[in-house]
Amino acid sequence: MPGPSAANKLLRWYDKHQRQLPWRSNASGYETLVAETMLQQTQVKTVIPYYRRFLKAFPNFVALAQADESALLTCWSGLGYYRRARYLQQSAQEVITHYHGRLPTEADELRKLPGIGSYTANAIASIAFAKPVAVVDGNVKRVISRLHGIRDDVSRSKTLQKIEAVANEMLCRKRPGDFNQALMELGATLCSRSKPQCHCCPLQHDCVAYKKNLQEQIPKPQATRQTVALIGSGALVTSKQGKVLLIADAPKPLKRQGLLEIPVIWHKRERALMSHLKKQYGVTSKFIQPLGKVRHGVMHYRMQIDLFRLQAERLPRSQSHHRHLWLKPTEADQQPLSGLCHKVLKYL
Ligand code: ADE
Repeated sequence: MPGPSAANKLLRWYDKHQRQLPWRSNASGYETLVAETMLQQTQVKTVIPYYRRFLKAFPNFVALAQADESALLTCWSGLGYYRRARYLQQSAQEVITHYHGRLPTEADELRKLPGIGSYTANAIASIAFAKPVAVVDGNVKRVISRLHGIRDDVSRSKTLQKIEAVANEMLCRKRPGDFNQALMELGATLCSRSKPQCHCCPLQHDCVAYKKNLQEQIPKPQATRQTVALIGSGALVTSKQGKVLLIADAPKPLKRQGLLEIPVIWHKRERALMSHLKKQYGVTSKFIQPLGKVRHGVMHYRMQIDLFRLQAERLPRSQSHHRHLWLKPTEADQQPLSGLCHKVLKYL
């Protein structure tokens, strides 16, 4: 008699070892859409508090569709890839106008919504609506290519098709959502890129890479997009009343519509920073204190910023300066701040 299938072994392992995540207990279509959108390009542990806050602020499609942009971005602030928040809201609006307020249940229909590609469509269809469609993300690509000893370059679309075919073949049709999440879970925990924990893996004896001791060679390391290093100086400027200067028109790569930022200049030092603040925002200061280096990544940029604290002599009167705000720290917390800004305001 054949033993349990690989899918059954995987599900048994998942039932026992899965992480308790807030979107895993009886999530609705809406909740699954929010979770899977946040989980694009972002790790589970980062997403958890954002997911909780977001659902409190916008508990359903109607609340999200009607949210004002600033409240939406405040909730997303620090999670990055802000386009996702706007797409999510557009999806909510479309669900209300075209689908009577109910998320479509088929992956093909879900893909028509803004920002939903096949990966997210399949995740939602399987997890929220038990549709038998496989999800292939980066973790799943690694697990399947090891399991089947697929040595092809996983970034090629031909390899993706092969992996999708295997995943669909393997999929447990009774529990497609759990099966997909179990594969992702295995990839995120035991079947890691380097030093996978094969000795605890439920699929150890099914795994071609394990049998041939090729775990470290499969999948082949990919050429990653070159990162761009940026060195700059940033300013944490406070007024005598303890208000902080935030700007609304940051230049690239910090430019993000609707998000507030601290003033930063690139490739320059204190002196240039002070004259920049005077010219752009009318700020003069006799006092400048180095606070140390702040590192921050935005997309493929890796920034290293020498941060300085300045106290403005007085608030400028002129309206001709670039768009900026003076906010109390408690007010700033209620605004859509960039990730860098979040880090810097901790120095207050
Ligand atoms: N990554 C994307 N979707 C996920 C999910 N539902 N659980 C864990 N990791 C994920």
